[in-house]
Amino acid sequence: MYRFAKRFDGVGGSEIRKIFGLLAVPDMISFAGGNPSPELFPEETLAEISEEIIAENGKSVLQYGGTLGVPAFIELLKYRNEDIMKETDDLVVLSGSSQGIDFFAHTMIEKGDVILAESPSFLGALQTFRLADADIKTVSMQPDGIDTAELEEKIKQYNPKFLYTIPTFQNPSGITMSGQKRQKVYDTCEKYGVLILEDDPYAELRYSGQPLESIKSYDQSGIVCKLASFSKTISPGLRVGYAIAHKDIIAKFNLLKQGADVHTSNLTQAMVMEFLKRGYYDGHVKMLCAEYKKQRDAMCGAIDKYFPQDAVRTDPEGGLFVWVTLPEKVNAREVFDACVAQKVAFVVGPPFFAEGGHENTLRMNFSMPTIPDIEKGVERMGQIIREFV
Ligand SMILES: Cc1ncc(COP(=O)(O)O)c(C=O)c1O
Repeated sequence: MYRFAKRFDGVGGSEIRKIFGLLAVPDMISFAGGNPSPELFPEETLAEISEEIIAENGKSVLQYGGTLGVPAFIELLKYRNEDIMKETDDLVVLSGSSQGIDFFAHTMIEKGDVILAESPSFLGALQTFRLADADIKTVSMQPDGIDTAELEEKIKQYNPKFLYTIPTFQNPSGITMSGQKRQKVYDTCEKYGVLILEDDPYAELRYSGQPLESIKSYDQSGIVCKLASFSKTISPGLRVGYAIAHKDIIAKFNLLKQGADVHTSNLTQAMVMEFLKRGYYDGHVKMLCAEYKKQRDAMCGAIDKYFPQDAVRTDPEGGLFVWVTLPEKVNAREVFDACVAQKVAFVVGPPFFAEGGHENTLRMNFSMPTIPDIEKGVERMGQIIREFV
């Protein structure tokens, strides 16, 4: 009936969204979502802050604002990112880092352009790239991040516009790119004139190991666009993230943002700004890390205890996800159906692979379930997987 644009052909919406309905079933233990825990939202502090903002600055906060963001907030973010911002860089506040993925795609991709993504990668980004008419080619992941030899081969083969990477506690695999590889990825892309979209929303949620430099910190040539977000550290509902990139790229984002939403909500920008300025942020992130660490340890421990030995899991040092590769012959979709019947859910792996395949993989989230549910749910999953093996 409708003459929809061709770009929608074959793009059917995320499989994760489709299973959300299932998760509303009472008593379902879900490792499927990817949300931060609502139990840990700083609700009271944000209620206090927002009331004060409207009482004291209602006239400006409730008015339209500048497209790049609230000036004082931009300054604060630039100050906090001093170590990675270059002289030619600029910063734009975004309505979540998803908006940065969308803007970068629409700034750079023309129909049929090849882009490179990690395999597996974030579903939301893959869908955005498809809707922007990109031809997505993939590069394998290793335990310490993207396969850099394959990256160079694929760059030579396809001359891609950019590489999309989630270097820290990747969604979905939980893998972190080593420091050495960050440098190598930057050098390789710089050598061949390939841009890098560095999507790093989980970097601050580290529970073990040492913090690593952002790829953006190596960027002497203006090839890296870095996306950051307060979705996982404060609240995703506030929709506040930002991009740091060469000012010419930010100028294009500015144009796109005028058409997309004029600007990110003044109120939520001011709320995040005050949360930072009043010194709540660092303590809050520390608390999140302490809580999520317990949940991660519970999940990894339970997988080691209950899953068959030849099921291999990643060892995430942070973030929200563990990735499991089942024995070759086990189909995760069949395991999923059997698990849902026993009221435990996860996400099957294949949709995260732009090129398909990998039927024996799955993603498990540990931020949403309680520790007793993690123990119970993983035990149940383990029994079912053993039957398939
Ligand atoms: C890798 C990655 N990038 C971006 C996002 C989107 O985050 P935001 O809420 O900042 O738009 C997510 C959310 O799950 C994600 O996993």
